[in-house]
Amino acid sequence: MSTLPPIRIGLLGLGTVGGGTLTVLRRNAALIAARAGRRIEVVCASARDLAKTRKFDTTGIDLYADPMQVVDDPRIDVLVELIGGIEPARTLVLKALANGKHVVTANKALIALHGNEIFEAARSRGLMVAFEAAVAGGIPVIKVMREALAGNDIQWLAGIINGTCNFILSAMCDAGRDFLEVLHEAQRLGYAESDPSFDIDGIDAAHKLTILASLAFGIPLQFDRVYVEGIRNISADDVTYAERLGYRIKHLGIARQQAGGIELRVHPTMVPARAPLANVNGVMNAVMVNADAAGPVVLSGAGAGALPTASSVVADLVDVVRALTTDSENRVPHLAFQPDTMENLTTLDIGEVETAYYLRLLAADEPGVLADVTRILADGHISIEAIMQLEKDACTTNVPVVILTHRVQEKAMNAAIARIQALSSIRAPLNRIRVETLA
Ligand code: NDP
Ligand code: HSE
Repeated sequence: MSTLPPIRIGLLGLGTVGGGTLTVLRRNAALIAARAGRRIEVVCASARDLAKTRKFDTTGIDLYADPMQVVDDPRIDVLVELIGGIEPARTLVLKALANGKHVVTANKALIALHGNEIFEAARSRGLMVAFEAAVAGGIPVIKVMREALAGNDIQWLAGIINGTCNFILSAMCDAGRDFLEVLHEAQRLGYAESDPSFDIDGIDAAHKLTILASLAFGIPLQFDRVYVEGIRNISADDVTYAERLGYRIKHLGIARQQAGGIELRVHPTMVPARAPLANVNGVMNAVMVNADAAGPVVLSGAGAGALPTASSVVADLVDVVRALTTDSENRVPHLAFQPDTMENLTTLDIGEVETAYYLRLLAADEPGVLADVTRILADGHISIEAIMQLEKDACTTNVPVVILTHRVQEKAMNAAIARIQALSSIRAPLNRIRVETLA
């Protein structure tokens, strides 16, 4: 074993991931030291409420209520940021870099929105910022994209990258459970963000897609270019009808290189029931990468939770320790590509994106209604793959109708939906879900 002194960590946040990280560092201390070549020791940590009862052991760690005391503690070599959100996390991380400390973070919001600034601050000082835990919890997807697939031209990637959404959709599908009840369970289990609307409105997945797209295509982090839709509009009926058509509904992040630019989109998606991503359930995440040399690569594992996420945080710590003695100019670049080769490629507006669609309408049970709807679709050159009229609503004379279309550009579909919605025989807002075969 090395005789080098231990690497000293300052930890910001003693919540789900902070607690998990302390647990893994203590439980596997000898193994981790054997792999890193030095012991890793947490010397100080911060939380908002120091009086709170914690389920893990903090003996021997100096605890502060002010996170800046951790950042400015002269003993630390690496700052681990597990607070979340933009502020004060951004200020604390930038101060740690200014103090010459390496940083490990699980904060996807911070990296997606301020990563360009943070990586530049780190690079100019020869420091590392590691963020494996920021995408897909315990799955080592950053390392695979950045290192293991470095020889590939990546054509597209699609992923279930929010554990809370997948947990909710899986429970709706398997047990027909209520949306809010399942969300509360996800919160109790520590999967959800402190503001769970980040999960269910797709923002968290968009943060992660921003990071993955940058690693895949060598583009700067551009969160504002991602089209974002969450799962609030998915009803138990949609889940049932999708099953009947041989599909499952998953909340996906998709990034794809097209001739005209790059698609960046997050939305509920119907995928064939036999597709690998259709069978990833509960808090599990999966990322499918289509790479020109490797072919399709699918990585799956727990996408949230204390120990899986801690696994990624600790792996980053080991990487930082191993890299301390290397030449800082020749380390793995933060975003896979050398900074001077990053390109500001065009990103496509969602209107330019082409997919197939599932449409659910509630129509008056009258002659000619379906003919009107199919005529509008035909006018828009939208071809129908399947159409299904379902059981009549018990209390009214309205009937739900489900239509599957072939692929068409979103702007043509938007125009058709506007015309269908305006028909007097359509009795409720039409629901649309994009369909991808992921072939
Ligand atoms: P928690 O809410 O469980 O923990 C946050 C911790 O930070 C708490 O200890 C809290 O103190 C402290 N804290 C919160 N706000 C402040 C503040 N303004 N100043 C100082 N300290 C503060 O969050 P998680 O552990 O779930 O998440 C941490 C990070 O990891 C986030 O970026 C999250 O997105 C990311 N992440 C989470 C995963 C998960 O499964 N939970 C998975 C992957 C990434 P106190 O305890 O006193 O309230
Ligand atoms: N809230 C996030 C999720 C945590 O549910 O996926 C993991 O990033």
